[in-house]
Amino acid sequence: MPPEILVCGYTGRLGKRVACALRDQHGVTPRVLVRPHHLQKEDWSDPQGMTVYPGAYSASAELTESLSGVDAVFLVSPVHPDMQSRELALAEAAFAANPNVHIVKISGLGTRLDSIVDSGRWHAMIEQTIRSRGIHLSALQPYFFMQNLSFQLESARTTGVVKAGVQDARIAMADERDIADTAARVLLGGTAIEGTSVPLTGSAAYSYADVADLFSSSLKRRVRYVDQNPSDMQAALQKAGQPDWHIQILMQFNLAFQRGWGSTVNSVVEQVLGRAPRSLSTLIEELCSSPVGLQGSDPFPAS
Ligand SMILES: NC(=O)c1ccc[n+]([C@@H]2O[C@H](COP(=O)([O-])OP(=O)(O)OC[C@H]3O[C@@H](n4cnc5c(N)ncnc54)[C@H](OP(=O)(O)O)[C@@H]3O)[C@@H](O)[C@H]2O)c1
Repeated sequence: MPPEILVCGYTGRLGKRVACALRDQHGVTPRVLVRPHHLQKEDWSDPQGMTVYPGAYSASAELTESLSGVDAVFLVSPVHPDMQSRELALAEAAFAANPNVHIVKISGLGTRLDSIVDSGRWHAMIEQTIRSRGIHLSALQPYFFMQNLSFQLESARTTGVVKAGVQDARIAMADERDIADTAARVLLGGTAIEGTSVPLTGSAAYSYADVADLFSSSLKRRVRYVDQNPSDMQAALQKAGQPDWHIQILMQFNLAFQRGWGSTVNSVVEQVLGRAPRSLSTLIEELCSSPVGLQGSDPFPAS
């Protein structure tokens, strides 16, 4: 019998990729959890072959139903002050449905109990609490999704500038497709990293000067990196209406990158998938030749 897998976050950046990787690469069609308001949208169409369960990360009959008979769960949620209560509600419901359930969770930069990054501390507390309840957990901790650079494309193309506030920090960025492929494989069980918490990276660490050079060669124009001053960046984020808790985390991300927290490359993607991770140069080539940029808002906005 193929495993029963629930993929959460289907409408976000990773969930759909994980669900499709399970179906298309492994022939295991998962069920997906989708917040009900999406299902009322005119452009909503059910994913092929997958059963859609309306629900959210809070104790409810809908969530219980979505978890009935499930062996493994993909868990992701946005950085938010309610992240702990949301993810732990899902974990508790999954455990109640099956005490042997395997949760594969996405954590992030600076996942440590003593982290200087609030969201990193939240992720670490969630991981610790899930494990302390005796729930089987594998946690993947990417530092930065390569696809975030999509939000730099317009500026690179029109003004020849990419902006960030990380000075000359190097970041071991990971392609969302590699994160999703890795999560899908871990959900199926039997990988060497199962039960552990591991950072997830591409095969090299890049500075924003390197990113600018890659945009230069793909766009065939000069692109340079402009480092943002922290107080200018903070003021611009306030002016843009970002909540204080989010501005604080964005500033903490920059500091953590400057301290090298995102710079160590590892071989987890290759270990799990048996192939090298996708490269940043390929991703930037793809971004520059695509007419459609990433939808949504930049998780690492510069002013
Ligand atoms: N972006 C990066 O570079 C990066 C790097 C490292 C780690 N991460 C980690 O990646 C995670 C995801 O971040 P993201 O912002 O990229 O996520 P995202 O794409 O916005 O996806 C979040 C998903 O969670 C769903 N969701 C939100 N609240 C929910 C609730 N109460 N109940 C059920 N589902 C809910 C969303 O559904 P709706 O569509 O209904 O809102 C969406 O499908 C974060 O934990 C972050 O720490 C991100």
